[in-house]
Amino acid sequence: MPDTASPRRERRSTRAALRAAAVDALVEPVLARAQRETGGHEGRALVVDLGGGAGTYSVRLAEHGHDVVVVDPSPDALAALDRRAREAGVAERVRGHQGDARQLAGLLERPVDVLLCHDVLELVDDPAATLADVAGVLGPGGSLSLLTAQRSGAVALRAAAGRVEEALAVLTDPDGRAGPDDPLLRRLDAAATADLLRHAGLAVVDVVGVPVLADLVPEAVVDPDPRLREALQRLEAAALGHADLRGVASHLHWHAVRAGG
Ligand SMILES: C[S@@+](CC[C@H](N)C(=O)[O-])C[C@H]1O[C@@H](n2cnc3c(N)ncnc32)[C@H](O)[C@@H]1O
Repeated sequence: MPDTASPRRERRSTRAALRAAAVDALVEPVLARAQRETGGHEGRALVVDLGGGAGTYSVRLAEHGHDVVVVDPSPDALAALDRRAREAGVAERVRGHQGDARQLAGLLERPVDVLLCHDVLELVDDPAATLADVAGVLGPGGSLSLLTAQRSGAVALRAAAGRVEEALAVLTDPDGRAGPDDPLLRRLDAAATADLLRHAGLAVVDVVGVPVLADLVPEAVVDPDPRLREALQRLEAAALGHADLRGVASHLHWHAVRAGG
């Protein structure tokens, strides 16, 4: 679920497109490393998409020949996943399971090469237990691709949009929530996420903002001008390499592996 500053549909979709492209670019090296380290199974990686929803990423990964297991508590999301996988002709490589991280261990016949956990840690009851369950099923050399909503990025986004009271609430609430109606149970600070990963026995390979700056740029300015849109993509690509800009990113992507593995 994008943490955006505006409910306007066209704004969400432009940002979603930028974000999806960025996530694709980040998941690719995660998969490549896992395949290099584990060799996969007959050349195919086992990918688990925890909270994978309707299969935005998992169906694409199945199209690339990987075996994908989606674990999600929502029957509607799993029905949409099933439909999408059939339409893409990859139903035999995509398995949906209704549940959460607790069920992972009993569900899988072989160690996981890549586990995606995108926009899910904000929704689970116990993020520490979830990451421990994730670490437990990752095989040696396996990788975690974790996408989290970042508190400081949510504050910057709301402040830049003039939603000052909300920005203050997210900044000062112990869980980084905008209020009781906030659909997210928490927005983590980067340090808190790093601690959770370490305690779960996961070592961070890389962390980057997704997107770093694009969510802060008013789309009313960028949308009508293809050259500006292209410039924004270049700005985003350049900003990825600047760790000091990471604090304003609405989301962070963490690539982690089993510590010592
Ligand atoms: C914001 S969506 C993200 C979907 C997908 N990961 C993506 O990036 O497009 C959050 C998903 O997490 C699922 N979810 C909610 N609580 C969960 C839990 N405790 N364990 C696993 N998934 C959960 C929801 O059903 C939903 O499909």
